[in-house]
Amino acid sequence: TWHMSSFVEDMILQLREKIGGKKVLCALSGGVDSSVAAVLIHKAVGKQLTCIFVDHGLLRKNEGDEVEEIFRKQFDINLIRVNAEDRFLGKLAGVSDPEQKRKIIGAEFIRVFEEEAKKIGTVDFLVQGTIYPDVIESGPGAAAVIKSHHNVGGLPDNVDFKEIIEPLRVLFKDEVRRAGLELGIPEKLVWRQPFPGPGLAIRVIGDITKEKLDVVRDADAIFREEVAKAGIDRDINQYFAALTNMRSVGVMGDERTYDYAIVLRAVTTTDFMTADWAQIPFPLLEKISSRIINEVRHVNRVLYDITSKPPATIEYE
Ligand code: XMP
Repeated sequence: TWHMSSFVEDMILQLREKIGGKKVLCALSGGVDSSVAAVLIHKAVGKQLTCIFVDHGLLRKNEGDEVEEIFRKQFDINLIRVNAEDRFLGKLAGVSDPEQKRKIIGAEFIRVFEEEAKKIGTVDFLVQGTIYPDVIESGPGAAAVIKSHHNVGGLPDNVDFKEIIEPLRVLFKDEVRRAGLELGIPEKLVWRQPFPGPGLAIRVIGDITKEKLDVVRDADAIFREEVAKAGIDRDINQYFAALTNMRSVGVMGDERTYDYAIVLRAVTTTDFMTADWAQIPFPLLEKISSRIINEVRHVNRVLYDITSKPPATIEYE
């Protein structure tokens, strides 16, 4: 739209003036906000921007490669991808308390980011993908924290920078998406459903192992593929698979099995503060269930969550 193209153009000019010839650092998560912020800065100052993408091994199927493809290949942005799976899984081994898991991931994330930033040396600016609703939510009078979100307010304190830049601070989510499209960011990323910072770690209920992560990753990929194929992906605001910490008895051929149960969660919502469970057609659920059972090892049961928020939250941890 006219309005958004002029916002983008003005913002690029403003950023160029503000940054001058200086260096900028950005923590890229692959989410909509940090992506749009990074591309805006890149359009303004090109290679003066370096993005650090911490791959904690808790991303969805192919997600890390997709982020790399878009930012390095399509936009030619200086991107450092840190493959830190072993580090995160090491710290998380044997930990089953949800808040503990979140805290470990948040703290480790900052540590990894700081280590990479140190290699770059002093930068002048640090980019944050803060958008207007974040400004309100974390302001005075903000509601009590139900779950600790590591990507809100968690600033690295050992990174050497002089100033924070928040180019999206005045925009609502739908405006951020329009700016993203204006900047040529692929629709798939612009319309990406929310994905929590701690990633699949909070979609494996209880303690995390590489095997469990692979199970949930494969089941989730099937769920997302089928929802997209059915053409209802934009009607459901968030949908994903989680791995319950329940194992149960099943039968496969003549064999007794004792394996994991996958739960499918899908909600419609406008603000993610309240949500209704999505009424996905039964034939589609049936197809997804049989694909998961047939294609993902160690799963012998698929459940569908029919609880709204409140009383349940969208995620399980
Ligand atoms: P809940 O589970 O509290 O989730 O109903 C509400 C929305 O927030 C997302 N979520 C997070 N997003 N970092 C994030 O960026 C986090 O740590 C986090 N935890 C939950 C969740 O996916 C849903 O969209």
